[in-house]
Amino acid sequence: MMESLVSRITELRAQLENWGRAYYEADAPIVEDAVYDAAFRELEALERDYPELKTPDSPTQRVGGRALEKFAPVTHVVPMLSIQTETDVTAAGAVAFDARVRKELELPETAALVEYSAELKFDGLAVSLRYENGLLAQGATRGDGATGEDVTQNLKTVRDIPLRLLCAVGEAPPPLLEVRGEIYMCRDDLARFNEKAKARGEKTLVNPRNGAAGSIRQLDPAIAAARPLKFFAYGLGAVEGWMPPETHAALLDALVAFGLPVCAYRAVALGATALAAFHDRMGQMRAEIPFEFDGVVYKVNRRDWQMRLGFRSREPRWAVAHKYPAEEAQTRVEAIEVQVGRTGAITPVARLQPVFVGGVTVTNATLHNEDEVHRKDVRVGDVVIVRRAGDVIPEIVGSVPEAGVARAVPFALPATCPECGSHIAREEGGAIARCTGGLVCPAQIKGAILHFAQRRAMDVEGLGDKLVDQLVAGGLVKTPADLYGLGVSQLAALARMGKKSAKNLVASIEKSKTTTLARFIFALGLKNVGESTAQILARHFGNLEALRTADAEKLIAIPDVGEIVAESIRGFFAEPHNLEVIARLRKKGVQWAETEGATLTTGGLAGKTFVLTGTLSSLSRDEAKALIEAAGGKVSGAVSRKTRYVIAGKAVGSKLEKARELGVEVLDEAGLRVLLAEVEQG
Ligand code: IVH
Repeated sequence: MMESLVSRITELRAQLENWGRAYYEADAPIVEDAVYDAAFRELEALERDYPELKTPDSPTQRVGGRALEKFAPVTHVVPMLSIQTETDVTAAGAVAFDARVRKELELPETAALVEYSAELKFDGLAVSLRYENGLLAQGATRGDGATGEDVTQNLKTVRDIPLRLLCAVGEAPPPLLEVRGEIYMCRDDLARFNEKAKARGEKTLVNPRNGAAGSIRQLDPAIAAARPLKFFAYGLGAVEGWMPPETHAALLDALVAFGLPVCAYRAVALGATALAAFHDRMGQMRAEIPFEFDGVVYKVNRRDWQMRLGFRSREPRWAVAHKYPAEEAQTRVEAIEVQVGRTGAITPVARLQPVFVGGVTVTNATLHNEDEVHRKDVRVGDVVIVRRAGDVIPEIVGSVPEAGVARAVPFALPATCPECGSHIAREEGGAIARCTGGLVCPAQIKGAILHFAQRRAMDVEGLGDKLVDQLVAGGLVKTPADLYGLGVSQLAALARMGKKSAKNLVASIEKSKTTTLARFIFALGLKNVGESTAQILARHFGNLEALRTADAEKLIAIPDVGEIVAESIRGFFAEPHNLEVIARLRKKGVQWAETEGATLTTGGLAGKTFVLTGTLSSLSRDEAKALIEAAGGKVSGAVSRKTRYVIAGKAVGSKLEKARELGVEVLDEAGLRVLLAEVEQG
């Protein structure tokens, strides 16, 4: 009886760990929730009836108990140190650190290059895990480095953290092993968590770091359990009865063997050049790596040299953090204004006290729409976190509460357009408010003209923002067709315009008359029809008349055209004033080549989506994209089940992993060339 009970309990535990891992770590559940729940309840009941069979590493121990009154203090026998930050974010940072290490080790100039363990600097919360005889006995925060808080209950809810260390058969676990590492969150997990929170009307998490740190320091373990937290091990605390390997890199391997998660983005680097190369490479991969890190960490690899180098106050001399320029910064909101876009969309924009972030000085940040302002609860006078990653438009992440400061009233959208005084209306069920002024709203006219003239559309050189302002304000231009009636003397009379620039402008307006169908369609500024959709439409229909008369069914049949785009196209051509503008443009001499259409989009790579990752050897990304698109294929940024091929070059990252996970076919550059050649031959 007891024997079969033990084997049932063992089976349940193994199943639950396995299912849990698939669900939480791989995000690919292998059983229904109900099956998991039933097994969980059965195990709980057995452990309640036979408490002698309960073990501390049972999956039931992950759920956490009741909320605590407060956290108990934990003394760190081996203090949790901080790391010195190299101030120079360029390669010189790596050189400076290496030079210091060599000097402090008193290595002669002729000595071999120093070996380092190069790792990522995770942006989360540092914790210490205490394993006694292989079982997770206690988890603590760093606190002030000497004393932290006992957050065992919360840490047990983190699926990545093993409750029991793995050991080779016949080997006993170390009597004591303290593992140091970082609790963090993946960007995707955070986004998914926030989506669900939003749907339930609950507060969202500002960023992964706050999400990770905030949940571990909550007294109620249910909060941590509900959040997709992860863990990476990167070092040791107190150890008894186990001899760590001689190098830091080998130590990390040993931690992996114990079943602890260690980040795979790490390297052993010889000398400063290799360190700087690692810093660079990881910097380039930053957007692809699924979690945030604010820099890299270099550690002298030999542990005996680490001891020799020792510490200075609370920082080891054998390690340094080499950061990247910050992507987030704090500043104050001076005002919230609204901007009117080309389609009349009203966008709230925060005017900020200038702040340096992501490599530029930011003074404005979009707040997207009214709902977003309320969800983030951003008000005039607030201190906010501003984010600018890569080349994206600066964004406000959220407000930072300030104790004892009275806040301004919540933002409200104006009832009328600040540009033309027309009503602002919000589409039913939609988030976007629009000015109803249409062709009488100068902001919309101006937006339409700038869109029409931009380089990727009609390419009218020299028609800038300020000039369009004057043309619209002076009533000289009401529609794009009016551009083609402008004369030199008219233009020369405008502010900041001489005869010469007026002549040049008239010449470039004249030059823009000969264009392609794709550019013309894009230039018209149909809602939801961007550059690539315009190209697809031009290729498919070959002439404007065929596009104008296409019904919804015909439009939706085109790959990449959905109901919303089809609706926009139908709506645009149903408006007489739009047709009139097109007729006037043609009359003024705007022209493009027309064909019968429908060639490539129905053959070749039509309907197939590609994702490019890594560096290809003979093609740039743009070239590869152009070749694929020319053959009718589509290039997307993220791998999903809809991806047909992933084209992988050198130094690939998470996209390749994702492709393997989803079973998406992976080709190298040669494979892509074969595919394109096949298409060409039909
Ligand atoms: S080692 C050697 N390695 O950085 C000193 N720390 O200022 C012990 N951190 O809050 C830390 N990634 O949590 C080390 N790969 C990494 C790290 C890392 C992030 C954090 C750590 C602490 C801070 C140190």
